[in-house]
Amino acid sequence: MELEIINAKMNPLSDEDIRDIVEIECHPLVRKWLVEYTIKGFEEELREYKDFFSKLRGNDRVEVLVAKMNNRVVGFLALWCVDNCDEQAMSIGISVHPDYWGKNIASTLVRESIKLAKNRGVKKLIIETLEENGAMRRVAEKLGFKLETVRRGIIFKDGVCHNEVAYTLRI
Ligand SMILES: CC(C)(COP(=O)(O)OP(=O)(O)OC[C@H]1O[C@@H](n2cnc3c(N)ncnc32)[C@H](O)[C@@H]1OP(=O)(O)O)[C@@H](O)C(=O)NCCC(=O)NCCS
Repeated sequence: MELEIINAKMNPLSDEDIRDIVEIECHPLVRKWLVEYTIKGFEEELREYKDFFSKLRGNDRVEVLVAKMNNRVVGFLALWCVDNCDEQAMSIGISVHPDYWGKNIASTLVRESIKLAKNRGVKKLIIETLEENGAMRRVAEKLGFKLETVRRGIIFKDGVCHNEVAYTLRI
């Protein structure tokens, strides 16, 4: 199966692609690791994603890369501009469908996002995740990100306070 990485600004996504993305975001094994999400029904979530993607081209604050296998979206990455930062920085959010974990998809997406960020003149990339998210941390470390901060007890999730780690990469 060949992995294809698509820039969603250059190649608008189909409704089916967006549905695949929402299925990934709503998957319980993915939700377990997400810090920011609201609990909505699938169809409401889908409407919001369709709206977001319909305006993507005109949105300078975000870039989206999509990973496809056999014409199915199996993962995606968003690069968000960071506010209140004196140098140009972007933050990475990423999810891969659990059926495809461990196949290097996140690593490929992050590698491509580094190239994209460089082309935008970005100087720093940031990955923030739960301290116990071993897979995300491994991806960050594999690609040369350095652990910058551990924010103790800052994330309240599923009734428990968690530490958050922040990794950065100077590019
Ligand atoms: C984190 C995530 C994006 C990784 O995607 P992926 O496509 O499986 O990542 P890759 O295959 O490129 O790399 C995963 C690496 O982590 C390792 N890994 C997996 N689980 C691990 C764990 N519990 N502890 C340490 N390392 C782990 C894998 O062995 C692999 O390393 P390797 O290439 O040296 O063998 C995916 O697990 C996911 O979508 N998780 C839910 C959402 C999420 O956590 N997003 C990040 C929030 S910022």
